[in-house]
Amino acid sequence: MVRINENYAKLPGSYLFSAIAKKVADFKEKHPGEQVISLGIGDVTKPLAPAIIEALHKAVDEMSAAETFHGYAPDLGYEFLRSAIAQNDYKDRGCDISADEIFVSDGAKCDSGNIQEIFALDNKIAVCDPVYPVYVDTNVMAGRTGAYNAEKENFDGVIYMPCTKENGFVPELPSEKPDIIYLCFPNNPTGSAITKSQLQEWVDYANKVGAVIIYDAAYEAYISQEEIPHSIYECEGARGCAIELRSFSKNAGFTGVRLGFTVVPKDLKCGEVSLHSLWARRHGTKYNGAPYIIQRAGEAVYSPEGKAQLKEQVAGYMENARAIYDGLKDAGYQVFGGLNAPYIWLRTPDGMTSWEFFDSLLARAHVVGTPGSGFGSCGEGYFRLTAFGTKENTLEALARIRRM
Ligand code: MLT
Repeated sequence: MVRINENYAKLPGSYLFSAIAKKVADFKEKHPGEQVISLGIGDVTKPLAPAIIEALHKAVDEMSAAETFHGYAPDLGYEFLRSAIAQNDYKDRGCDISADEIFVSDGAKCDSGNIQEIFALDNKIAVCDPVYPVYVDTNVMAGRTGAYNAEKENFDGVIYMPCTKENGFVPELPSEKPDIIYLCFPNNPTGSAITKSQLQEWVDYANKVGAVIIYDAAYEAYISQEEIPHSIYECEGARGCAIELRSFSKNAGFTGVRLGFTVVPKDLKCGEVSLHSLWARRHGTKYNGAPYIIQRAGEAVYSPEGKAQLKEQVAGYMENARAIYDGLKDAGYQVFGGLNAPYIWLRTPDGMTSWEFFDSLLARAHVVGTPGSGFGSCGEGYFRLTAFGTKENTLEALARIRRM
């Protein structure tokens, strides 16, 4: 008889953002007249920039003529997009990454979940606590962890690296040696950033112990301070130990369009085996490639018009971040993040748990956020708000929270 993958049964409840969506849907059904404002899931609200819309229209037109029609995309992405990425995101920042080390995909969520497939199941993973749930959930599904430990509210067999107010939400090097280290900076959910010298320590450590860092840089467009690196490849030696994940969702509004990429340098090896060729093999077999139309839209992100328009969008979201940060601080909340990231991380008031605060915020202010404990046990007592709302909704949500 067919049997299920028992590892899935280790996962408690549903995916964090699905659980929240269900709670909000229930609330709306019971309170049909209320205007609920979502500052929960990090979904953008600004429409695609004109340069991107223009590229989409042009690419759609190309699909209508036999001479310019495009079928299957190349396995690893179109050269025009990979070259634009290599030039703008890497070479222009002094990073030694070439177009053929870039794998175009339909977004960083899938890549961050799938990349673990190229590693053995007995590798030990290390994650920040709190952490974007996809990294852990997908390792659980694969069977790389033990059972869920209800008392500790985490999984056995995983190295959790606490990110707390005391360490500025940047983890210390672990005492137990990991094989795969997940880092995300600017960080989701805490909104914290890592300096180049702090990141260099991680790169040196990974090279010393033979670990691979999976570096999620999905929020790099939100960096405002000089000393914060946009890519792990700004650090010396990173080509030999790091894979980088990037997304077009947060910097260009592609959450509904879907586009991202992963960088796997050619000199990144596990013994004699190139991780670049393993990921290429997986991509070739399991992935159909992001559509031509979408990759042309991605290319427009790097045009002079695209860059200017997106800079303005990011600045608009960061104005929201500043308003939330300042407004909540002024109201007596302890707030973090928001300076190099579109997330504000706040301490729940009056000793409330994260979910108690979620329920109270929804019931009293009709505002949706994300409970910190949904990201891990160190997130208990914290709460995440995103800066991705419209300006109007953000200010209205802020006013409502301040009135609570
Ligand atoms: C988040 O809210 O943490 C992210 O938007 C989720 C995602 O990018 O998948």
